[in-house]
Amino acid sequence: QKPFRIAIIGFGTVGEGVYRTISDQGDKIKGLLGRPIAVTMIVVNQEKNREIGPDVKVTTDFNDLIEEKHLDVVIEATPDAQTAYDYVKRLLEKGTSIVTANKELIAKHGPELHQVAERNHCHLLFEAAVAGGIPLLNTIRHTLKTNNIERIEGILNGTSNFILTKMREGGTSFTEALYEAQEKGYAEVVPDKDINGWDALYKTEILSQWVYGKSPIWTTSKPIGIGSITRETIKLASALKGRMRHIASLSDTGKGIEASVQPYLVCEDHLLYGVDGVNNGIQIQGSIVGSIMLQGPGAGKFPTASAVIEDVINLLTNCHEQRKVTDLVEVEQEVRNNKSAE
Ligand code: HSE
Repeated sequence: QKPFRIAIIGFGTVGEGVYRTISDQGDKIKGLLGRPIAVTMIVVNQEKNREIGPDVKVTTDFNDLIEEKHLDVVIEATPDAQTAYDYVKRLLEKGTSIVTANKELIAKHGPELHQVAERNHCHLLFEAAVAGGIPLLNTIRHTLKTNNIERIEGILNGTSNFILTKMREGGTSFTEALYEAQEKGYAEVVPDKDINGWDALYKTEILSQWVYGKSPIWTTSKPIGIGSITRETIKLASALKGRMRHIASLSDTGKGIEASVQPYLVCEDHLLYGVDGVNNGIQIQGSIVGSIMLQGPGAGKFPTASAVIEDVINLLTNCHEQRKVTDLVEVEQEVRNNKSAE
């Protein structure tokens, strides 16, 4: 059986996690797809010794990927939105489907890249870009279709939550806790965007696009991160029987979609009070279901790889939800034709 051919751009925490997962889950994946998956090429930014099988072409030249004739999916796992934008756009223009974990890329360029994908009959999936291993986007899209999503409130940055938890539990300093988050592969290569709230803002922007089809109105001119939270603040929160949490919220006020990203003191009865460590927790208020809560690892090598590989499988089995705009126009036309035929 001819394998599905996959390429990976980037071999950092996410790229390596995906590569290892594909290698480790070979039988399971073959069972799901009826054919195996083979990683045939990995694009890296510099040559060094890596544990990569001899059948994989490792290259520093992105053009090798563009010239590769037969690829079923490319997994984009670079930390930087600008380089990723050029790569992803060129691949989509070639008709190659992409799975990415790059939230800055999707937050800034998602709508445009979707149009490119649609024009070229391919797809762009990004479950891993929001809330790491938690299947948040697919849950909303597939299983909350009839509900109006009234509000989403959650911890969307694993690094910030890990730092706040460490500072509370172990009395660790901010710098030590950040260092540990970097060691564990939770933080971005340059962790500023984790700390200053931009990472959570990108994820909130993606959620807004995903749920409401538009950007939100932000209640502050920029996100507020956890940079100014000291051990004293954490102690004071504990003395008040509360906990500091970094929370993103998105709500449909009836007049528009409002969003904010900032730290809060939450009390014991708050659903996000118990979400500790690298976990993310997301409370969704649906018009029919009421309030539900999803919780799980929001960052890290294998949780992120899990979300990426599930997207790849959905793509290759056509299980991804993508009623394209053009499909919907055709459906509308069909309905009209049927009506006039009645
Ligand atoms: N640096 C991100 C976080 C990784 O800590 O949440 C997952 O998006």
